[in-house]
Amino acid sequence: MRKNIVAGNWKMNTTVPEGVKLAKEVNEALKDATVKCDVVIAVPFTHLTAIDAVIDQNKLGLGAENCADKKSGAFTGEVSAAMVASTGAKYVILGHSERRQYYGETAETLREKVLLALENGLKVIFCVGEVLEQRENGTYLNVVKEQIEKSLFNLSEADFGQIVLAYEPVWAIGTGKTATDDQAQEMHAFIRKTIAEKYGEVVADDTTILYGGSCKPSNAPALFAKPDVDGGLIGGASLDAASFMGIVTAF
Ligand code: 13P
Repeated sequence: MRKNIVAGNWKMNTTVPEGVKLAKEVNEALKDATVKCDVVIAVPFTHLTAIDAVIDQNKLGLGAENCADKKSGAFTGEVSAAMVASTGAKYVILGHSERRQYYGETAETLREKVLLALENGLKVIFCVGEVLEQRENGTYLNVVKEQIEKSLFNLSEADFGQIVLAYEPVWAIGTGKTATDDQAQEMHAFIRKTIAEKYGEVVADDTTILYGGSCKPSNAPALFAKPDVDGGLIGGASLDAASFMGIVTAF
């Protein structure tokens, strides 16, 4: 049975003290809440060690927002998967559209990043999604299929089991314009079918597929009620403990 997950992606927000405070608030709120999903926060590299020290990762998983496509060495400014794992983090987000769009990440570099993350025991939250033009010209299903095929379909079945997919239509990220629950369901069902064609029905059924893009406490219940939507990857609304918890408790 696949897991439901709500994961926060803090992006480039909060200083270390602010981040520690927010993580503590979420950690505390989880102690008193009835929660029917796994909860994860993905935070800036600089925050990982400090946050690992103040949360209970049995209740609140910790992740990074990226890692390098190289193992180690002369790559100034990069942070390796091994470094991320050594902080205590258990997850890493890879392939976020902001990384693809602003930092030139390609399907090929992402394939390397995924392999290194898995080698280091990290669970990967792998993001896919189309831009508005692709939504409007009707190529969106194929765009997402290609993103998955090019960066993930080299994996063994066992390795693929460590992947969580996140469908994030780029036009819905930070815009306040959420995909409708039917648009999300269409894509999620399509992603599951794509996985089934490669790895079989059992693997596809076990794969968690999150929705991301202007997800809020108000729209999360309808999105999460869809059969193939297994939770959310939350940007803006994860920066406030109460609104993040409003989404966590939407299941
Ligand atoms: P918003 O929730 O701010 O739209 O961001 C979504 C996202 O990009 C999560 O990775």
